[in-house]
Amino acid sequence: MGDSVVINKEGFPHHVGIIMDGNGRWAKKRGLPRLSGHKQGASVFGKIARHAVDTSVKYLTAYAFSTENWKRPASEVAGIMDLLRGFLKDTEKYKDDNIRVRVIGDVSALDLDLRRMITDLEEKSRERDGLVLSIAINYGARSEILRAAKAYANDPLKPLSLDEAKFGEYLYTKGIPDVDLIIRTSGEIRVSNFLLWQAAYAEYIFLDVLWPDFTPRHFDSALLEYAKRNRRLGNI
Ligand code: IPE
Ligand code: IPE
Ligand code: MG
Repeated sequence: MGDSVVINKEGFPHHVGIIMDGNGRWAKKRGLPRLSGHKQGASVFGKIARHAVDTSVKYLTAYAFSTENWKRPASEVAGIMDLLRGFLKDTEKYKDDNIRVRVIGDVSALDLDLRRMITDLEEKSRERDGLVLSIAINYGARSEILRAAKAYANDPLKPLSLDEAKFGEYLYTKGIPDVDLIIRTSGEIRVSNFLLWQAAYAEYIFLDVLWPDFTPRHFDSALLEYAKRNRRLGNI
């Protein structure tokens, strides 16, 4: 647990989303190749997930690779995929932390070995009842919503009266509550196609910190700031 603030009170977020941005700029600042920024970012991601276990957060959803990120040079994409392999290949990953791992996004576009690792880790960690860590890979919110609409249309068992909750069952995040707080690092103030449906009432925190410099302290401060905000949810 270290010297981290343990936050487990009313008013703190249960589901936090993170847009982990700024790896490339972090590397550039140091005269390093972009991939070393991604490496450092992956290591920070591992630490933050473990740290989240000691907080109010029960669901953590991290944006690792977007449907738009394929536009990057092939070597960068391959490097990111290798980092994901390194992360996902260990089916004992996070066992001691009791973290359940799932992947959201269109995994059908990923290499077969990576898809197998994802299925294995999801299967192996299914019974863990601690933090639910969702990693968004080849994820885009518009494509998720479109896919859900098609899945509903083609579902022979579809409920005839479709409502918001039932529609949510067709999204990748089925079974996971709406996101309460989204943190984006790197100073960019945009959503970049992340959790558009689930974030309808989310609070946002944009930080001027590059993802590889993000620490548990930043995470805890964000939870505290969230707790201070007045979420009226349409009420007065
Ligand atoms: C975020 O860092 C990681 C991914 C999008 C995969 P970036 O690679 O976007 O870093 P910047 O924005 O170029 O600094
Ligand atoms: C968003 O970061 C996606 C991830 C963090 C995986 P980007 O760096 O791809 O976003 P834009 O292109 O600056 O909007
Ligand atoms: Mg970026």
